[in-house]
Amino acid sequence: MSDERTLVLVKPDGVQRGLVGEVISRIERKGLRLASLELKDVERSVAEQHYAEHSERPFFGELIEFITSGKVAAMVVEGPRAIAAFRQIAGGTDPVEKATPGSLRGDLALETGSNIVHGSDSPESAEREIKLWFG
Ligand code: PPS
Repeated sequence: MSDERTLVLVKPDGVQRGLVGEVISRIERKGLRLASLELKDVERSVAEQHYAEHSERPFFGELIEFITSGKVAAMVVEGPRAIAAFRQIAGGTDPVEKATPGSLRGDLALETGSNIVHGSDSPESAEREIKLWFG
């Protein structure tokens, strides 16, 4: 199977809690590889473009405030079925109702608004997000 690439963010809550190493470790133990990695301050315009598809949702303002509230660790992760594989590692969006034990969110988070990581949800999103974050 040919390799795929996905954009992974360790969000400000994950960086502040010192979980970047834990996220990278789970990615590598799964067999995926890091192609790029950078700790970044997030400009508001980048945050708004990243989450543009959610701009009409009631939590959009809160989401932008949160993602711009501190540094994020942005990475390009690659390997076979990297998009689905990372979303499995991350667990469902709601860390209690959806994420299963063993996943990052299932083990390490409580709130949907601060759920540690983001992973692209499709090849189209991955291409768009990798361009946005890494040029
Ligand atoms: S998903 O994975 O796209 O189906 O999840 P979705 O529920 O559509 O959520 C999209 C992103 O918005 C974040 N989110 C929230 N942030 C703050 N408050 C509330 N209530 C909330 N609900 C959802 C969610 O974590 C998703 O962010 P990413 O970074 O893509 O995981």
